[in-house]
Amino acid sequence: MSEKVYDVPSEWAHKAYVDDAHYQSMYAASVKDPDAFWGEHGKRIDWFTPYTKVKNTSYDPGHVSIKWFEDGVTNVAYNCVDRHLETRGDQVAIIWEGDSPDESRNITYRELSSEVNKLANVLRNRGVEKGDRVTIYLPMIPEAAFAMLACARLGAIHSIVFGGFSPDSLAGRVADCGSKCIITADEGLRGGRKVPLKANVDAAIAQIPEGVDHVIVVRRTGGKVDMTPGRDVYYDEAAAMVTDECPAEHVNAEDPLFILYTSGSTGKPKGVLHTTGGYLVYASMTHQYIFDYHPGDIYWCTADVGWVTGHSYIVYGPLANGATTLMFEGIPNYPTVSRFWDVIDKHKVSIFYTAPTAIRSLMQAGEEPVKRTSRASLRLLGSVGEPINPEAWEWYYRVVGEERCPIVDTWWQTETGGILITPLPGATKLKPGSATRPFFGVMPEVVDAEGKVLEGACEGNLVIADSWPGQMRTVYGDHERFEQTYFSTYPGKYFTGDGCRRDADGFYWITGRVDDVINVSGHRMGTAEVESALVAHPKVSEAAVVGFPHDIKGQGIYAYVTLMDGEEPTEELRKELVAWVRREIGPIASPDLIQFAPGLPKTRSGKIMRRILRKIAEDQFESLGDTSTLADPGVVEDLIHNRQNKR
Ligand code: WT7
Repeated sequence: MSEKVYDVPSEWAHKAYVDDAHYQSMYAASVKDPDAFWGEHGKRIDWFTPYTKVKNTSYDPGHVSIKWFEDGVTNVAYNCVDRHLETRGDQVAIIWEGDSPDESRNITYRELSSEVNKLANVLRNRGVEKGDRVTIYLPMIPEAAFAMLACARLGAIHSIVFGGFSPDSLAGRVADCGSKCIITADEGLRGGRKVPLKANVDAAIAQIPEGVDHVIVVRRTGGKVDMTPGRDVYYDEAAAMVTDECPAEHVNAEDPLFILYTSGSTGKPKGVLHTTGGYLVYASMTHQYIFDYHPGDIYWCTADVGWVTGHSYIVYGPLANGATTLMFEGIPNYPTVSRFWDVIDKHKVSIFYTAPTAIRSLMQAGEEPVKRTSRASLRLLGSVGEPINPEAWEWYYRVVGEERCPIVDTWWQTETGGILITPLPGATKLKPGSATRPFFGVMPEVVDAEGKVLEGACEGNLVIADSWPGQMRTVYGDHERFEQTYFSTYPGKYFTGDGCRRDADGFYWITGRVDDVINVSGHRMGTAEVESALVAHPKVSEAAVVGFPHDIKGQGIYAYVTLMDGEEPTEELRKELVAWVRREIGPIASPDLIQFAPGLPKTRSGKIMRRILRKIAEDQFESLGDTSTLADPGVVEDLIHNRQNKR
């Protein structure tokens, strides 16, 4: 573990919203009296009917219920757009930077208002109403933000599916929430390559028995796609028929804002449900304090809106704060590995938020591609998605930020809606690799396997003792699964699924998932999902999937595969299986290594012992533990002998 500590520079302590003393007192107040604290900060958004109640939450087993500001009435799009028109209508709301460096576009708050209202009217004309689900399957183009806000304006619930997911994955998500309307594009464009989004939508709908009534197609590349008459419409044609005025629906604080599917340790992805009031208060407050956002800043989060980071920190948090947020269609290494830094110079970005996997891959290209750019506009850096190793942290700090920009290492999850553990740049000293301290109102605890709360410096599992406004409210259509997944391991507490260490300063160090979830390049993948994709292949009889340490991705996907009797374990089949999983789930689920295993280590009752498979994948042959309880201890020798290695 890194011992290095970076103190808060005095100019940061002076200029930022909070210094350390301020943090301490605000934090103490926030956990002592959440009603008073959030009652005050809830006013940061505009309400049509102000709330009189603040916190009404229970983590009690069997009765988990989470409500914040429950009698307040508001609208998220009104807060992200309309309320800024009078004071900053001509300020840029969204800077869009295309895949190609020759393409970019500035959208003012006034233009945003007009675009959102038009899209809302197009949806309304197709019967979309408050409470209806709308699936968004778009590339990183401004229409993705317009679509989110248009749904919010109508009180419809959006479910964004990342453009890298396959037709199968898309179909599952559309069917689970019963979307009758999909917003997509003809094709996406990433790193100069086309992604057949509309064709994927067609393939997905073919699998859904109840079908989909409307597909709205944004022209991105102009590529030729099939259009089903009566169902499909080009967005520009539909938009030409409507006005840019659309009233904002009055929405209750606890009405749903969006569903976002995320992988768990078992079964199919869960529809994480976030609601309106608490979510927006939390997203906007964290965005302001953690990134020390001030008017005039140009803020860039490199995530995709297909993930929660894009929801909270490209769209909702920044726009609620009236910020200028940059939206990037491309990838870090196209057309060159200087792209991030070129974009920072081009648009004078002052706050930059990205993922450790991007930093590690750019680090490999050396310092020159960074140093040939200026980056003089930068003042703050952020990291999210997975633990950042101290080497990558130091490189980010020294080479990218020239030792002038604090780094906020922000820990959170799809489920948490916003950042829970993070430095505040004017208040918190930095330790490379540590997410440091809880945000206001967040009560982390470290527990042992039995649930005993550990004190002081310790290591164990991370739980949160009480609710915060941005927390997910339920699993869409399955409240029991919500309770089971998050509140049954340690009854009365929210279990994060992460392991963590707390040091003598009370700083938190997230050590990674302790369940069967793996984190590949900051993307969450359930091992069970990859396994079921593999066993769906006709030549596969059994599969077990684990994570292994990967230099760039953080974790890679390691699959042990047992073939049907008589099938040959060839190199060709290995490639076929990788392609198969890509097709079934999407490229992010491609196994990095496949080991053909004649047998898997099982207990006498037939349970696969993943602990052993994990150790083998991690090259920890000495610490396999007790293998004597295996039905056939001999399989372990074979597994070790044929360990795949191509790192
Ligand atoms: C998991 C949640 C939250 C936005 C992106 C990921 C890991 C996330 C950090 C961090 C260490 C982190 C955790 C968490 N994670 N941020 N700063 N340090 N680990 O959202 O897909 O829901 O994944 O990502 O393991 O549980 P997600």
